[in-house]
Amino acid sequence: MSTHSDPALMRPRRFAAQGPLKGRIRVPGDKSISHRSIMLGALAVGETRVTGLLEGEDVLSTAAAMRAMGATIERQANGDWLVAGVGVGGLLQPNGALDMGNSGTSTRLLMGLVASHPIAACFVGDASLSKRPMGRVIDPLSQVGARFTAYPGGRLPLIVEGAATPVPLTYRLPVASAQVKSAVLLAGLNTPGITTVIEPVPTRDHSERMLRGFGADLSVELDSDGARVIRLVGEAELKPQTITVPGDPSSAAFFAVAALIVPGSDLVIENVGLNPTRAALFDVLRQMGGSIEELNRRDVGGEPVADLRVRASTLTGIDVDPAVVPSMVDEFPVLFVAAAHAQGRTITRGLEELRVKESDRITVMRVALEQAGARVQETEDGLIIDGTGGEGLRGANNHPVATHLDHRIAMSMAVAGLASAAGVEVDDTRPIATSFPVFEQLIATATGQ
Ligand code: S3P
Repeated sequence: MSTHSDPALMRPRRFAAQGPLKGRIRVPGDKSISHRSIMLGALAVGETRVTGLLEGEDVLSTAAAMRAMGATIERQANGDWLVAGVGVGGLLQPNGALDMGNSGTSTRLLMGLVASHPIAACFVGDASLSKRPMGRVIDPLSQVGARFTAYPGGRLPLIVEGAATPVPLTYRLPVASAQVKSAVLLAGLNTPGITTVIEPVPTRDHSERMLRGFGADLSVELDSDGARVIRLVGEAELKPQTITVPGDPSSAAFFAVAALIVPGSDLVIENVGLNPTRAALFDVLRQMGGSIEELNRRDVGGEPVADLRVRASTLTGIDVDPAVVPSMVDEFPVLFVAAAHAQGRTITRGLEELRVKESDRITVMRVALEQAGARVQETEDGLIIDGTGGEGLRGANNHPVATHLDHRIAMSMAVAGLASAAGVEVDDTRPIATSFPVFEQLIATATGQ
């Protein structure tokens, strides 16, 4: 936890030009789907089998928490995970605090689950997670009847006392957040009556797809303003499932950008999830002139999947449509790196949510890219980047860039390093293990080291 930010324990590394990315790689399972597989498996009665689960620290935090609340969760020798659930309503009060590590998704979704069970739970996290706002879930979950004692500012550590008689809610999302949507829906599972979430701006829909897959009665329709109205019938009985988790598009993103900007690259990234609520980065990169081909499009576990063939390309800056933000919300740090290599100007806006991720990704990327020689201007809700026109950045090797316990900053600046003259030193690579434990190994594979 707090040791995570102890400078003596940080693991710096310099990422330098290694030559083109070639061959075929396969990225690990989708983080959002992995969290939900464990949570919903733990609420079904019987055994859920998960193939391709992301074994990143964030998902392991979810697994540990669900175990602490009564589920049996085990990894098999062949890499599959088996989850024996307790049934909706069957969560037990954990004995100690639930350590969420760096994971906002674990925290917010589990707060939703606890909110409608007659148990109390204490959530703690690392220095990054302890700065992030939890008011956005405390507000709706208080209306369900749960009680919260949070650190000032609605932060971790916090204690949730779930409602003994939870009340079904109709909640219009004030921020475009799949985590808030999911927290309310998960609270609805053990609440009598119908829980309704109104989503004016669509966000990733894995919770809806998977709740239905597990047998919940959930419907989605559009109202007259085009908002999505999601209704979940409570006191659900979930049935165990066999789940195959597709590769994470948010992890593939780093390799897609690396292959576009490192001259001579021609890389196939296999098994990439392309759910339309997640995959906008690849469209934006194509609009910039990136060569990204979809091969062997198919369905894996109810999600569209393809292998992506990415070839080094001359990119041109664009004005990124703010409407795509929710469907690539985690991909902006690496898009900024692509923009820093493009010809001309890239403008991004509508990114205020990036300021409350694992770090303030607008400021932190502005500072890191400037340090590596990019021309960047920060606005209230985005960055304006004037690219080098295909030349690599100068790099940053006399002073490491600060990643602020943010895995996506570390990986984005690693990618910048691969296409730079002098390399980029990042101050700490440990947070990469939260979402993409084999990242450095795959860099070595793709660059033939
Ligand atoms: C996630 C939703 C997103 C995303 C996060 C995972 C999820 O957060 O940034 O990495 O699995 O629901 P918000 O919903 O808060 O934007």
